[in-house]
Amino acid sequence: MPRPKFIAGNWKMSTNHTAAKELAAAVAKGVGSDSTVQVAVCPPFPWLASVAEVLKGSPVALGGQNCHFETEGAFTGETSPAMLVDAGCRYVIVGHSERRHGMGETDALFNKKAKAALAAKLKVIFCVGELLAEREANATETVLDTQLVAGLAGLTAEQLANVVVAYEPVWAIGTGKVASTQQAQDAHAFIRSKIASLFGEKAASELLIQYGGSVKPDNAAALLHQPDVDGALVGGASLKADQFLAIVAAAK
Ligand code: PGA
Repeated sequence: MPRPKFIAGNWKMSTNHTAAKELAAAVAKGVGSDSTVQVAVCPPFPWLASVAEVLKGSPVALGGQNCHFETEGAFTGETSPAMLVDAGCRYVIVGHSERRHGMGETDALFNKKAKAALAAKLKVIFCVGELLAEREANATETVLDTQLVAGLAGLTAEQLANVVVAYEPVWAIGTGKVASTQQAQDAHAFIRSKIASLFGEKAASELLIQYGGSVKPDNAAALLHQPDVDGALVGGASLKADQFLAIVAAAK
């Protein structure tokens, strides 16, 4: 069975309350009832419940950008997977490079978050990707290997069915420097082979692997038609409904 395409928008720390609702409404309108491509948006936490309201009846799913690994308690400033579910989320992004490299979070922490999110019945968009220096040192596959082994440690093949891997070369995020289609395909093929060795061929052949890093309407189609590229995690271009919808259309 061919894998479906999955396009997710990561709004990061952008938008305000009104803009978030308008953006969600425009995305929902553009997608309509068409579910040939899976679509999700990941707004900032304060707008989740309002955006969930806007997306009611739409196939566009809601996701959180991060979560804590505990269910509740004295964790000031944190949000649990159960809270995300309660706010209407079906997805959560775990392991984004802006948390790895910007906030000092580790593979071990991402592993705990992924497990907690899956236990709460969220689907996890698990991000991996190398720094520019790592690519230049020919260490891309070693880095991806480490991030996958440590980040997905202890998961079962059944749990992996609720994981999407996002390959996001850090040097391509927000820089306008997109990976070439060959670089993306090579990294995705490596990720799929690594998942096969960890979780088996079936899990690997069903795994959705998104590419992320400066995906725009003009480069989306070429990336999305690589054999192992099953979608995109879109930052900047997800903040403009027309651009995001053009990327969704390019996935068809
Ligand atoms: P970008 O961000 O599309 O703005 O490069 C992608 C991401 O960080 O997920």
